Amino acid sequence: LREHEEFTKVKNIATIELGRYEIETWYFSPFPPEYNDCLKLYFCEFCLNFMKRKEQLQRHMRKCDLKHPPGDEIYRSGTLSMFEVDGKKNKVYGQNLCYLAKLFLDHKTLYYDVDLFLFYVLCECDDRGCHMVGYFSKEKHSEESYNLACILILPPYQRKGYGKFLIAFSYELSKKEGKVGTPERPLSDLGLLSYRGYWTRVLLDILKKHKGNISIKELSDMTAIKAEDILATLQNLDLIQYRKGQHVICADPKVLDRHLKAAGRGGLEVDVSKLIWTPYK
Ligand code: ACO
Ligand code: ZN
Repeated sequence: LREHEEFTKVKNIATIELGRYEIETWYFSPFPPEYNDCLKLYFCEFCLNFMKRKEQLQRHMRKCDLKHPPGDEIYRSGTLSMFEVDGKKNKVYGQNLCYLAKLFLDHKTLYYDVDLFLFYVLCECDDRGCHMVGYFSKEKHSEESYNLACILILPPYQRKGYGKFLIAFSYELSKKEGKVGTPERPLSDLGLLSYRGYWTRVLLDILKKHKGNISIKELSDMTAIKAEDILATLQNLDLIQYRKGQHVICADPKVLDRHLKAAGRGGLEVDVSKLIWTPYK
C-alpha cells in the first residue's frame, strides 16, 4: 500500500461531506483502492466511516448510534469538549481519522499503526451531538519527546484560534506528565506559523511578568516547551545574545512591548481546571 501511495500522489477525492459542511480537499490521501474513482466522499461525522453515495450515508445515519467520538471526554468548557481516543481500542476510527486528516496534510506519511497513538479530538457540542472541529495525535511513548504527531483543524473552523488551543492543550498534557515536549517534524507552513505564534505569545507573557530575569531552563520548566524551541523563538525575536559561550536572554522592556503588540491574539484559553486526565501508562 505504501508503494502504491508513493507512485500515485495525485489528488483523488476533491470534496468531502462531513456533518453540515462540504469541504474541498487539499492533498492526496491513500484511501483503499475501491474509492479511487470517487470525486466525493460522504463521512459520518461521528464514527468517521466514509461512503461513496449520499443514500448510503443517510442509511448509515439512521442506524449509527454515536453522537461523539468514541473514547473518554477529558475536557469540557462551555460548548467545547475534548475526547481522548485510544487507537488500539478504536482502530477503525483511528484509521478513518488518518485518511480524513491526510486530505489536508501534505508531507505526513500515514500511520497504519494507529495502535501506538492517542487521538485528541476537539468538538463543538450542541443538542444534535459533538461535532469534530479538529484533532491532534500523540504517540503513547515517544523517544524523541514528541508531544504531538499530527495536528489538523478542519478548514471551516480554521483561523478562529482552535489550532493554538490544541497546541496549548498538548503542552498542558506534557505538564501533567512532568515532561517537556515538541511537535514532530517537519512542520507544514501553517503548522510552523501556528507554533511560532503560540511559543511567541506564551514566552513574551512570562518575560514581561519577570521583567526578563529568567533563564531558558526556567522558561522550559514553566511551559513544557523544549529548550531548543524556546531558543529558536527568542532568537527569531532578537532577544538572545551570545556571551562567554552562553545564550542569554536580553529582554529590553520596550522591545518586549513592541513584540507583544505585534504578537497575534491570545486565542482560546485552555482552562486547566476542566481537564481531567492522567498520563498513559
Ligand atoms: N495565513 C496566515 N497565518 C495563519 C493562517 C493562514 N491561513 N492560519 C494560521 N495562521 C497563523 C496565525 O499567526 C494564527 O494566529 P493569529 O490568528 O493570532 O494571527 C496562528 O497561525 C494560529 O491560528 P489558529 O486560528 O489558532 O490556527 P488554526 O485553527 O487555523 O489551525 C492549523 C492551524 C492546525 C495548522 C491549520 O491551519 C491546519 O489544520 N492546517 C492543515 C494541516 C496542517 O498543516 N497541520 C500542521 C502540520 S505539522 C504537524 O502536524 C506537526
Ligand atoms: Zn457513524
